[in-house]
This record gives sequence, structure tokens and C-alpha cells, in this order.
Amino acid sequence: MLVRIAVLVSGGGTNLQALIDAQKSGALKSGKLALVVSNNPGAYALTRAKEDGIPAEIIEGADFESKLLEILRGNGIDIIVLAGFMRILSTEFTAKYPRRILNVHPSLIPSFCGRGFYGLRVHRAALEYGVKLTGATVHFVNEIPDGGEIIMQKAVEVIDGDTPETLQRRVMEEAEWAILPAAAERICAEMVKNQVQKGMSN
Ligand code: GAR
Repeated sequence: MLVRIAVLVSGGGTNLQALIDAQKSGALKSGKLALVVSNNPGAYALTRAKEDGIPAEIIEGADFESKLLEILRGNGIDIIVLAGFMRILSTEFTAKYPRRILNVHPSLIPSFCGRGFYGLRVHRAALEYGVKLTGATVHFVNEIPDGGEIIMQKAVEVIDGDTPETLQRRVMEEAEWAILPAAAERICAEMVKNQVQKGMSN
């Protein structure tokens, strides 16, 4: 059994690419990238999905979550990975997938996270504060923005003269692209193991 993964994206999709590369290399082996969903028709992540032959859907506007639910169910999705997805999911939605939604956030939670902290804003805030270490976090998504249980974190050094852009790039290269696929594999492997055990006890 392979866990069926949907990846939700909004932009460039370098984290989606890291998942695709991990699937190709065999580092992600307990799950299959089965679907990509974007809330932005112009997201380059959609091109990455297409190039890899992963089915992709665009959902815009009102009824976003009800359309999303329908598509997830229609595709037999087991877990959802938010990879640069710039929309906060409602409590009603997250309650339907307890410990089944993962998010990558570009800071060491609980620093620089929550409502209003996304993309370059996170790195701008870290530089303004003057922290010497930042990093990335993969966590489960619950009703609190960036507040779910932490799965993996990796620290990254801030270097004198960093701009939000240079820091963002280093955090992606040294942390996000490594821990997102690793966390996805860990959770998928646990799900497979639980499924096997359940099957044996039946
Ligand atoms: C990544 O740095 C991701 O951690 C961040 O947006 C960027 C998306 O890049 N996500 C958030 O800030 C969510 N709160 P990508 O589209 O190239 O993966």
C-alpha cells in the first residue's frame, strides 16, 4: 500500500520539486504524489506537476474548501502536504484531517509564525529582530495557524548582510527541501505500518 499524497501549492513550488525529486530518488517511498492543487492559476508549481505527470487542479474563489474536499475524496487522498500554500484552512476543514495535513513553515516555530507570517515576510521579521539562527519547521496543521504538533525542524545560520531573499534561499536549500520530504516519508511510513498492523489483527 502507498499513501496517496495531495500537495497544495500557491507559487513557485520549489518544495513540491523537492518532494518530486525525493520520490524519484526513492527517499519518498511510502507515499505517492497523487495530486497537486493550486489556488493560483499562475503558480509555476503547476508546470512542475505537469512536467512530472502528476494530475493537477486549480481551485479559485468561493467554495474553495468544499471543492477541495470533493477533489480530495475523488482522488482517494490520504494525506495533504501544504508546500508554499498561502491560504489558511478553516477549523471545519482541518478537523476533517487530524494529523493528516503537514505544512512547511520557513522559521523555527514558535518564532515568526502565525497569521501574517508567510513567504518573505517571515525572513524580513527574522532579520528585523536580529536573530542569528533561523530555520524551517514541518508540523501538523490544526485549527491554530502554524500551531500544530512539530514533526521536524532544522536550524540555519543568519549571515551578516543577509537580505530577506538571500535568507529565504538559504533556509530553503539547507532546511525546507530536506525536512519536508523526510517528514512526509516518516508520516507515510507510519501510516503504512499502522495499516499493516490493523490488517494483521483483523
Ligand atoms: C517556502 O519558503 C515556504 O516555507 C513558505 O513559502 C515558500 C514557498 O516556496 N510558506 C509559508 O510561508 C507558509 N506559511 P515554494 O513555492 O518555492 O515551495
